[in-house]
Amino acid sequence: MRPTTLTRFLLEKQREPNSTCPPELRLLIETVARACKAINHAIAKGALGDVLGSLDSENVQGEVQKKLDVLANELLVDANEWGGHLAGMASEEMETIHPIPNRYPRGEYLLVYDPIDGSSNVDVNLSVGTIFSVLRAPEACAGREVREEDFLQPGTAQVAAGYAIYGPQTLLVLTIGSGVYEFTLDRELGAWIMTDGPMQIPSGNCEIAINMARRPQWAPEVVTFIDDRLTSGKGPCGRDYNMRWTASMVADVHRILKRGGVFLYPADHRTPGKARLRLLYEANPMSFLVEQAGGASIDGAGRIMEVTPVGLHQRVGLILGDKEQVAELRGAVPA
Ligand code: F6P
Repeated sequence: MRPTTLTRFLLEKQREPNSTCPPELRLLIETVARACKAINHAIAKGALGDVLGSLDSENVQGEVQKKLDVLANELLVDANEWGGHLAGMASEEMETIHPIPNRYPRGEYLLVYDPIDGSSNVDVNLSVGTIFSVLRAPEACAGREVREEDFLQPGTAQVAAGYAIYGPQTLLVLTIGSGVYEFTLDRELGAWIMTDGPMQIPSGNCEIAINMARRPQWAPEVVTFIDDRLTSGKGPCGRDYNMRWTASMVADVHRILKRGGVFLYPADHRTPGKARLRLLYEANPMSFLVEQAGGASIDGAGRIMEVTPVGLHQRVGLILGDKEQVAELRGAVPA
């Protein structure tokens, strides 16, 4: 059988009755996927391309920017600015939104992304990724430039989300609201070829992903949850759990999509509102993918995708993965 390319997959989705993939969205996703190929190329060059290491600058979160953070951000802006599908973009690496300049036509979508997730891993040759989320620009911004508040939509409003993972293989994992599909980059052909999907998170995997160094900031309910699993065999597996932490959310979530388990980065219960992961371009797109693959995603109190955003770079606690295991913490942990 002929392999299904990303282009063919999207075109067939576009032709379905009641399609969730109009032509503009298809072209937008293809543009993002093309930019991810360019990012992959830069990452793979590593020291030979002089792309490793940090710059003197900090991003809006006060984090030192890696050369690749800035480069990948520029590649995504350059690829998406002129296509006519977007009204604006926002990213981890830009303090405020990036409206489409007047010299280009404006489209009906908003693109929000983390150009290099887990970028501290890049200098040591571990997997990193690009996470993206697509929203519809509100009708109210027709005829005017987009504003920051136009981006502050809950995760349930996403029309597409995905990530590219730059690891031993380069993959694109995508949802347009009807299942999750994985595409592997065929480097010789330059094509994304479908290699899995619709993906379903396997249940009952006894693996947990959490940064144990943050234990002092966990709520007591999280401490009990982790201790039960790691040391007392009280979790649903009936034996001690294993732990995996890549410190690259894309890599950890990809493992969960493929073989199950739970990922936790809870908020700091000592300081209300203090958390690590960003809602709009990390938690929401990953939650959309995880839910579409049969899993669940919460901030502790409730469903991540129902959180009303109040800021572009807002952070949230995040617990996602195997539905049954996430359910144990739903409503139990302060958000
Ligand atoms: O900012 C995102 C991120 O790098 C994620 O990719 C990852 O899960 C997490 O932060 C790592 O955090 P820590 O440095 O606490 O392990």
